[in-house]
Amino acid sequence: MLKIGLTGGIGCGKSTVARLFAELNIPVIDADEIAHQLVEKGQPALTRITNAFGPSVLTDEGTLNRSHLKDLIFSDNRNKQTLEAILHPLIYQSIQSTTEKLSAPYCIICIPLLIETEKTESVDRILVVDCPVETQIARVQSRDHLSDEKIQAIIANQVSRAVRISKADDIIDNSEMEYGLAESVKKLHNLYLSLSPQD
Ligand SMILES: Nc1ncnc2c1ncn2[C@@H]1O[C@H](COP(=O)(O)OP(=O)(O)OP(=O)(O)O)[C@@H](O)[C@H]1O
Ligand SMILES: [Mg+2]
Repeated sequence: MLKIGLTGGIGCGKSTVARLFAELNIPVIDADEIAHQLVEKGQPALTRITNAFGPSVLTDEGTLNRSHLKDLIFSDNRNKQTLEAILHPLIYQSIQSTTEKLSAPYCIICIPLLIETEKTESVDRILVVDCPVETQIARVQSRDHLSDEKIQAIIANQVSRAVRISKADDIIDNSEMEYGLAESVKKLHNLYLSLSPQD
């Protein structure tokens, strides 16, 4: 099956675009959702995270203390690398086994860090959702109420807009209002159907 890797910087509109593909009955696999499921209580990945960072990453209920883990990652890049070494292989394995079970002309795999993790070869085509950095900041601010500095720090940790675009097979310009998006998605949908091996 044709695998489309959907990526883009924080707040560019990946989830919004993914929803529009889902409305066209195209299966959407979301790496962020998989990452959440992997660290649920009782999951082996949570045990490995606890072994790596100590019991302080758990709440009294034994669930992941996300804000504490986020602090650890932001304060020390080695912690970030340790966490990623645990989670990234598991995320890509889960994506792989999910796509094997699907039957559809193509699927959308939303992977925010597709380029950063150097996993571009795991998909057949790269679709980048793009908007200016100032727009990213404004959208994330109104969605998550994070400080300007925090958002800038997250953006600084991701590849630049130019690098991302240089890797793209397809680009959705999401710098304008949302109502134009459905049209762009429909055009790509028709392209992907025409490229699908089942076609
Ligand atoms: N064209 C648009 N016009 C106005 N608001 C938009 C537009 N596209 C997305 N948004 C809003 O901006 C915010 C970020 O969009 P979205 O959550 O889709 O981005 P994302 O790339 O999935 O972000 P993340 O990297 O955090 O997962 C959301 O609140 C969304 O509703
Ligand atoms: Mg998202």
